[in-house]
Amino acid sequence: MAQIWHLAARPDGNLTTGIFALSAQPDPALDESMVRVENHWLSVDPYMRGMLDENGSYMPALPVGSPVHGGAIGRVVESRAVALPVGTMVLHNQGWRDLSTLAATDCTALPQDGAPIRRHLGHLGMPGKTAYFGLLVAAEAREGDIVFISSAGGAVGTAALQIAKIKNMTVIASCGGAEKCAALKALGADAVIDYKSPGDISGKLRQAAPDGISVYFDNVGGDHFEAAIDSARVGARFALCGMVSGYGERMRLCIDDPMRLVMKRLRLRGFAAPDFNDRHAEFYGDMLRWTLSGELKSPETVHEGLEAVPTAFVSLFSGGNLGKMLVRLAPAGPGDAA
Ligand SMILES: NC(=O)c1ccc[n+]([C@@H]2O[C@H](COP(=O)([O-])OP(=O)(O)OC[C@H]3O[C@@H](n4cnc5c(N)ncnc54)[C@H](OP(=O)(O)O)[C@@H]3O)[C@@H](O)[C@H]2O)c1
Repeated sequence: MAQIWHLAARPDGNLTTGIFALSAQPDPALDESMVRVENHWLSVDPYMRGMLDENGSYMPALPVGSPVHGGAIGRVVESRAVALPVGTMVLHNQGWRDLSTLAATDCTALPQDGAPIRRHLGHLGMPGKTAYFGLLVAAEAREGDIVFISSAGGAVGTAALQIAKIKNMTVIASCGGAEKCAALKALGADAVIDYKSPGDISGKLRQAAPDGISVYFDNVGGDHFEAAIDSARVGARFALCGMVSGYGERMRLCIDDPMRLVMKRLRLRGFAAPDFNDRHAEFYGDMLRWTLSGELKSPETVHEGLEAVPTAFVSLFSGGNLGKMLVRLAPAGPGDAA
């Protein structure tokens, strides 16, 4: 039997763990070309918030009563697929459960590359790819840029911050709370803004970047986006990655004095990580090299056990994570070394 988290009700105002329910389901028969995977690591990500609402977002809405899905890493324990024999470690998207039964074509066999296997849900996976291409391609950031990164303490943010430093940029990072600020300083940020401390973000950014910013990597939207427009130099490049401050609300892009976009000749580019799937090798090669050399650190916040999945997910929206938020289901194995 697989234990699977389902969406029991839509969020009503505040997001709570009570909208999810855990129930057991018999394992389906293993048809030709399918595998059964015992999950070791589950990912929770802000994009999942959009699937919970009636209208969805860039992810389609999840019907009430459906199993929740998300990124996962596990070990093949039964196989009817030649390419994925028992024992293969795979990445797939049928998470939020302990046991997944799925087509081998929906799994990616993971390389033994010297990095901890869970990193393929973080800096060597989707969030890392988002940071890498968002910064270097969508924003066309390069040496000498002054880069403002919001939610810089998260999975995407900690990668974007460090890639920018490796490429000799100046980084102003924002996050919530003194402890996270200290962690971002330790990761190399030149200046850190605590958006939860008293004072407005625009004023704090002006102080941190008196000569203005040339790049903005937006994970937050809202008042962070406003502050970035305020401090933008003429011709600044904005990579619009996500707007976590507005998830679960009817988001409207209200810009005070939109003529600032015109007069500053700002370039805004929205992007999604899958846009760059055909350039996986480029991203993976650089990120793995920086990981193994120690140039790229990967902070993680790990919750234990399947029961903890909704708590880990909900706490993403109150800053409960430094770096990638993960849930561990299996005891540490050989691929888990830090
Ligand atoms: N375009 C794409 O393809 C793509 C792919 C992946 C992710 N994304 C987006 O990238 C962003 C970061 O994702 P992630 O996976 O790295 O998540 P994350 O940053 O690890 O987790 C969420 C963080 O957001 C911050 N946050 C939550 N509510 C906030 C608010 N109201 N105002 C300011 N900060 C808030 C919290 O940090 P604090 O402690 O600092 O508040 C929290 O730790 C999200 O917007 C996500 O949707 C986009």
